[in-house]
Amino acid sequence: MKRTNHALVIGGTGMLTGVCLYLAREDYSVSVIGRTFSKFKQLHVDSQPNSIFPLLTDYDTDDVDEEVNKAIQERGPFDLIISWTSNYRVLERICEMNHGNASFRLFHVKGSLRYFKDESIRIHSRCNYRKIYLGFVIEESGSRWLTHDEIANGVIKQIRIDEEVGIIGQIHPYEARPR
Ligand SMILES: NC(=O)c1ccc[n+]([C@@H]2O[C@H](COP(=O)([O-])OP(=O)(O)OC[C@H]3O[C@@H](n4cnc5c(N)ncnc54)[C@H](OP(=O)(O)O)[C@@H]3O)[C@@H](O)[C@H]2O)c1
Repeated sequence: MKRTNHALVIGGTGMLTGVCLYLAREDYSVSVIGRTFSKFKQLHVDSQPNSIFPLLTDYDTDDVDEEVNKAIQERGPFDLIISWTSNYRVLERICEMNHGNASFRLFHVKGSLRYFKDESIRIHSRCNYRKIYLGFVIEESGSRWLTHDEIANGVIKQIRIDEEVGIIGQIHPYEARPR
């Protein structure tokens, strides 16, 4: 049976694997961009058939346009885009390609440094733009970066509460980050 919603996860076979699986459980068809077929194995093992759709492509090349267009034609425009890429231009292009009349949400996952120093991004008029910064955790023994589970669960939480800006872990004081 065709699923109701369509999500795109850019860079979804690493730390965002748990986000892809969550969206699949939430009845999304999940198109996932990554370059390496073997990295999709976990997604296929842990999800229902016909819920995860690999877009095997390098987002730093023009090939990504064809893959994204094909996904839109087959499963409809994206209701939701989750992005973990530092290539902001491809993100702008993908949003432009996401034709349709309805608005859509873009959750732009960023490293902590982007909180202080970021480049600009052109936001499509139908796009509800959300930023999620990945911070760090301070423990008794010192500070550490986030685990995959903390990142995936934090992104899922942001999708559910739908705030414009979210921080997973902490960013202040920035001098306390792991080195
Ligand atoms: N604040 C924090 O705590 C923090 C912040 C950032 C990262 N991290 C940690 O650092 C680790 C490494 O980060 P990472 O950036 O390598 O993230 P990752 O999520 O482990 O991997 C990046 C994802 O993007 C895909 N990808 C990368 N380049 C691509 C390209 N040109 N075209 C298409 N897909 C591409 C990768 O698949 P392919 O390689 O198959 O293309 C993969 O799905 C993570 O595991 C995370 O735990 C921590």
